[in-house]
Amino acid sequence: MDTIKIGLLGCGVVGTGVVKQLISNQENIARNTGCRLEIKRVLVRDLNKNRSLDLPRKVFTDQADDIINDPEIQIVVELIGGIEPAKSYILASFAKGKNVVTANKDVLAAHGREIFAAAEEYQKDLRFEASVAGGIPIIQPLKDSLAGNRIKEVLGIVNGTTNYILTKMALEGKEFAEALAKAQELGYAEADPSADVDGLDAARKIAILASIAFRTRVSVDQVYVEGIRDISALDIVYAQELGYTIKLLGVAKEVNGEVDVRVHPVMIPNNHPLATVNDVYNAVFVEGDAVGQTMFFGPGAGELPTASSVVGDIMAIAKHIRLGITGQLTGCTCYYNKPIRPIGQLNSSYYLRLLVQDQPGVLANIAGVLSQHQVSIASVLQKRTLGHLAEIVIVTHEVKEADFMASMAEIRELPPVEKVDSIIRVESTNSNG
Ligand code: NAP
Ligand code: HSE
Repeated sequence: MDTIKIGLLGCGVVGTGVVKQLISNQENIARNTGCRLEIKRVLVRDLNKNRSLDLPRKVFTDQADDIINDPEIQIVVELIGGIEPAKSYILASFAKGKNVVTANKDVLAAHGREIFAAAEEYQKDLRFEASVAGGIPIIQPLKDSLAGNRIKEVLGIVNGTTNYILTKMALEGKEFAEALAKAQELGYAEADPSADVDGLDAARKIAILASIAFRTRVSVDQVYVEGIRDISALDIVYAQELGYTIKLLGVAKEVNGEVDVRVHPVMIPNNHPLATVNDVYNAVFVEGDAVGQTMFFGPGAGELPTASSVVGDIMAIAKHIRLGITGQLTGCTCYYNKPIRPIGQLNSSYYLRLLVQDQPGVLANIAGVLSQHQVSIASVLQKRTLGHLAEIVIVTHEVKEADFMASMAEIRELPPVEKVDSIIRVESTNSNG
């Protein structure tokens, strides 16, 4: 039986899982691929760290060139993360004739075009299933199984940390800061949680999914992003009273030839399949013109779930190597060049919570400004009275975002309006962007 040699760049959470899985499942892997997969070298930063892995010490190196320049290594698995040196190592690996597996959404969402061009130039495979939603198979299903569809929309809960925080807020009435502290205590959120809570991590993932679903390159800087710091427990309670659940969604839709791609908190109807995805779980809802509605659910992170995706990618490439077809079947599918739809063009309903003077004529005043900007009200609720102030919740019908935001700029300046506490977009399923 042939042996295919692998070099791992990085052996942290995911790399450790990959080593364990390649070793513990080696018999099945050999039968499935028709070859043995041998981990020849593993790059780490600190050679003195105790790894507790069933690998000889001499396998570990702190020199990337020991892997990139080794002619025997045919598959490089990049599990360092971040932009540099990961990007340079990936490009150098292609230039040295190696196939690449990566779990790195940061580098793909920012430099995907360059990385795919290198894979194509050197006719090598690039697989990246773990870069979005960890253990959930979603990249290959979009690229292969659903390829016969025109994809209408992709909606993803693709960040486990924020989903955990929103779930704690909804089920236990915790405020954001308290729920974040719990997520940090459990190791879900980093000490600096900004990439997760400000939506950047989800933006990287939805940029990758949008690129595949709509076959056009979407980079992270083209994604409109809002995080969850401003969501309060009160909004979650009011949303529930109105029949909605608040989730941080990555949204990608094609509207009149443009790609609408964004990350922000969304009120989704309680009967939407994504509304019941709780805790650190991820889910990606995909609607295609042929298949209809589908949902992919599972663990979006973690040692073995993420290793599951990485090892699947390694095995797929191993089979391609054996068949002599690397670089020919898994090239970049971004063959269109579709414009990004500006956020102002979005058609959405809005939930709005504001504090106003509790006196006659105030609601009429607000309604007047809304109607001047073509914003139609679906419902109004007066929730609480706080001294001389009244808390008002308004839900609008669908309106263009630019018109709604223009009305809000005016409403903020009305003398009886004390404060606009929250504005949350309301997702009606199958809306046309
Ligand atoms: P991690 O635990 O921080 O591990 C990073 C590894 O890379 C460590 O082994 C580290 O060496 C090594 N490393 C870092 N900088 C290096 C450098 N300059 N030169 C050489 N080695 C370097 O990261 P991770 O959580 O495994 O994540 C790896 C990738 O998977 C990232 O792209 C991440 O976004 C992605 N991912 C992670 C998860 C997850 O659940 N963790 C889920 C989905 C995707 P030392 O061990 O010596 O420090
Ligand atoms: N930080 C990410 C999350 C996991 O909370 O989902 C890695 O992509």
